[in-house]
Amino acid sequence: MIKRVVARAYANIALVKYWGKQPGFQNVPATPSISLTLKALRTETIIERKPGGDDIFIINDKSTDRISTKRLTDYLNVWRTNKLIDGKYSIKSTNRFPTKSGLASSASGLAALSIGLSAFSRRKISSAKLSKLARIGSGSAARSIVGGLASLPNTANPSARLLIPFDEIPWGMVVVEVDKAEKEIGSRRGMELSRKFSPYYDAWVGCAERDYRRMLKAIQVMDFTRVGEITENNALAMHACMIATRPSLLYWTSATVAILQAVKRWRNQGLESYATIDAGPHVVILARQVDLEKVAGRARRLKGVKSVMKSMPAGGAKIIKCS
Ligand code: DP6
Repeated sequence: MIKRVVARAYANIALVKYWGKQPGFQNVPATPSISLTLKALRTETIIERKPGGDDIFIINDKSTDRISTKRLTDYLNVWRTNKLIDGKYSIKSTNRFPTKSGLASSASGLAALSIGLSAFSRRKISSAKLSKLARIGSGSAARSIVGGLASLPNTANPSARLLIPFDEIPWGMVVVEVDKAEKEIGSRRGMELSRKFSPYYDAWVGCAERDYRRMLKAIQVMDFTRVGEITENNALAMHACMIATRPSLLYWTSATVAILQAVKRWRNQGLESYATIDAGPHVVILARQVDLEKVAGRARRLKGVKSVMKSMPAGGAKIIKCS
């Protein structure tokens, strides 16, 4: 019987964003999404079988708070109810991110946890099934299971599909961390608020569906300019929907706006790069790998920037050790 498993997964940044859920309990996204998984955003998770008691969760050397403990216990219950695993577990997860910005950590965390749990299962779990299970834990985690450039449709019970493997992608990203504003509203709650209270929510869902179709075509021919334009426009459309939510989900700070304007300026000067932003003030810049250092160098000189980190693409979630 397996007692201890070490799993690894990388977080991803969406080029076409998931923002909004369909009704029901399966965490099905309302918008289809496409992402790039990043080598610099790595999570390692150790899972050990416990003789009894409750599940235990430790993230970055700290016990989880009540809300996260419930969310993670509920997730393990999905596995237990489906008779994929039995018993209780001790889970210790560490984000080996060079920054503390908390960027996309639920994607890598839930992906590492899911693949780790699959090692304890007596049943064989396919990669598609695993991606579906990870999605129930966190929508974006479904994409980190496959890595590279991955798509997650908004069909019934979707799983992520690998579009381009990580070692065939000539692009990378520069993560630009800025000072946080106040306490942010997390993605899970934020997207529910937008669905209920943003007058632009339906328009956003329609826009994301069109962007998704265009992005699939652009990726098929690896057209960097098209991919970049769709990426930046899609993020701005999502933020327009967020900002219009009542009360407003305004994640940006003045530094966020300054970086957006700088990226546009660099483009006009011939340094082709494109910006995207998740549910926070940080900006992630998509660039060709040959331009990553130049983009990072320029980003470091901008006002209000806390840290700058380059990243190459990464592969899918993996089991590192099993004993
Ligand atoms: C803005 O995957 O964190 O980063 O399914 O509720 O766990 P849950 O949400 P989550 O949402 C990600 C939102 C986003 C865009 C994206 O990654 O596609």
